[in-house]
Order: sequence, then C-alpha cells, then structure tokens
Amino acid sequence: MSEMHLLVTGANGQLGQCLADQLRDQGITHTLLSRQDADINDTVVLEKIIADKGITAIINAAAYTAVDKAESEPELAKRINEDGPAALAKLCSRFDIPLLHVSTDYVFDGNQQTPYVETDQTGPTGVYGKTKLDGELAVQRHCPKHIILRTAWVFSEYGNNFMKTMLRLAKERDTLGVVADQFGCPTYAGDIAKALISIAQQLHDAEQNKSGAPGRYGVYHYAGNEAVSWYGFATAIFEEAHKQGVLKSVPTVNAISTEAYPTPVKRPVYSVLSTAKIENVYNVTPSDWRVACKMQVAY
Ligand SMILES: NC(=O)c1ccc[n+]([C@@H]2O[C@H](COP(=O)([O-])OP(=O)(O)OC[C@H]3O[C@@H](n4cnc5c(N)ncnc54)[C@H](OP(=O)(O)O)[C@@H]3O)[C@@H](O)[C@H]2O)c1
Repeated sequence: MSEMHLLVTGANGQLGQCLADQLRDQGITHTLLSRQDADINDTVVLEKIIADKGITAIINAAAYTAVDKAESEPELAKRINEDGPAALAKLCSRFDIPLLHVSTDYVFDGNQQTPYVETDQTGPTGVYGKTKLDGELAVQRHCPKHIILRTAWVFSEYGNNFMKTMLRLAKERDTLGVVADQFGCPTYAGDIAKALISIAQQLHDAEQNKSGAPGRYGVYHYAGNEAVSWYGFATAIFEEAHKQGVLKSVPTVNAISTEAYPTPVKRPVYSVLSTAKIENVYNVTPSDWRVACKMQVAY
C-alpha cells in the first residue's frame, strides 16, 4: 500500500493556504508549490517534482481570479485558467494520477431560478468565467482521472475576500450600500480544502484496494449550505463581528440594486449551486458558512 502524497499548486492563495493548514493538521504527506516555486505552465519543473517525490494526486488551487481585470488581460487569464490546467492534466494523465481542479459558479449565466446542478447549461458572461470553463474542458479532455470542483463566494482568513472587505469598510464608514438582488452560497475556503482532501483520500483508498473508482470522477458542485444575497451575507458578518467585539457598532446597511453598483463584468444574478451530487457520492457536507463566519470574523 503506497502512502498518499498530494501536490498543491497555488499554495499562497486563499484556498491554497487553507489546504496547507488542513494537510499539516491531518498529518498528510504533501508538497506545496506557490507561483514562485513553480508556474503551473512549467511542465519540465512539475514533471521532475512529481517523479522525484512520488506524487499520487495534484490539487490545483492556482488561478487567475481578478474577475473585472480579466476583461483587459484575456491572454494572461487564458494562460493561467486554461493553458495551466491543460498542462497539469496532461502531466497527471502521463503519470496516471488524479487531478483535482477548482472551478467557479461564473461558468453559468445566472439566469436560472433553481439551484444549478452539474449538468446544467453553462454560459459565462465574462473573460474570467469563459477561461475557467475552457480550463474545465481542457482538464476533461486531457485527464480521465479528474475531479472538477465548482465553488462560489469564497471567503477565509486569508487573502482578499468579501468578508474582509466588509469588515474593513465597516471600520471606515457608518453607512454602506450592499447589493441585495444577487444570490449565492458563501463558502468557507477551509471547508473546500477539507472536501478536496477527503475526495483525494477516497480516490486513493479506492485505487489501493484495487476497487478502482469508476464513475466517481467528473464535475461536482461544492458551496455553502444556505443561499443568501450579498446584503444578507454582509448583515450576518456585521452582526457576528459586533457580537465578538470586532466592530464597536453595526453600520447601517442599505440594500441596493445591481444597477446601483455597476461593475465591468455582469455578475450572475443567481448562482446557487446544488451540492446533492457531492454529498451522495463523497459523503461531503456543504459549507456551514454561518459557523465559519463566527470562527473567522475575529482574524
Ligand atoms: N475567490 C472566490 O470567490 C472564488 C469563487 C469561485 C471559485 N473560485 C476558484 O477557487 C480557486 C481558488 O481561488 P482563491 O480565492 O484561493 O484564489 P487566489 O487567492 O487568487 O489564489 C490563486 C493563487 O494562484 C496563484 N497563481 C496565479 N497564477 C499562477 C501560475 N501561473 N502558476 C502558479 N500559481 C499561480 C496565485 O499566485 P500569486 O499570489 O503570486 O498571484 C495565487 O496564490 C480558483 O480556482 C478560483 O477560480 C474562487
């Protein structure tokens, strides 16, 4: 029986740092690669690392995530979100190891009114979503042993995210306007990390037991357990931060419309992801974002 050895790319990102914490805490053998250590497009360097260290699966947490900026940097976004995952997928295929790749709710146009399932029609509305979708297709094309995990509204104690922005603004202003007509599921990056590690372990165990894992590869949705608007999410953050003494007072939050807060890229109005498939196949529970929020507002 060989031991699982996970390679994590994008290790300095929000999800990457949560993966590092979980892998360390769970005592799982792993190798972390930041962009400085190795670009995901650098197949020569990556091939050597996989061979030398005996990597048994790759989790790709590297991505170009600047949604609005991607409109003016489409080539760079494509290089990181499509060409990089394609290169990783070809390497994984060559070494016959699984690739767990992370994608986004932005592959959908947001016009649906019921939670998106994995087989729903995609239709990205901007460069970021389009390059992420092309990355998914490349991974599917080049690596049979793939898990594509679409997630949404990610927050954590690391990097830049909505929770951190709201807490900063609440310290600077008494009144805030927050969009109330876009709905999604906030997802704690630590919970995404846990889900990815659990899936990697289950795939590894299945391979080791020679039972294989047919039908368990594919696209999965993983997100928070309760849909809410940005306004609702902000209100929950402020109430918790106030309760814990992080904010001296709760700012007045005005519910505003999408038109009142224009952005270069149109956000999906509704990007609620159904997590039924991942719960059934991998027994992974969706992110309890209210609990995570309670734990993280004080960071
Ligand atoms: N954030 C969200 O709300 C959200 C929502 C849905 C889905 N997702 C998906 O979730 C995943 C993780 O997102 P995140 O929030 O953790 O992103 P993040 O904080 O922006 O981290 C991405 C990491 O990728 C690294 N990177 C960029 N280009 C690279 C390259 N060519 N080679 C190696 N590393 C590279 C970045 O390095 P530098 O630090 O040097 O730039 C950064 O550390 C992504 O696939 C994203 O599309 C995120």
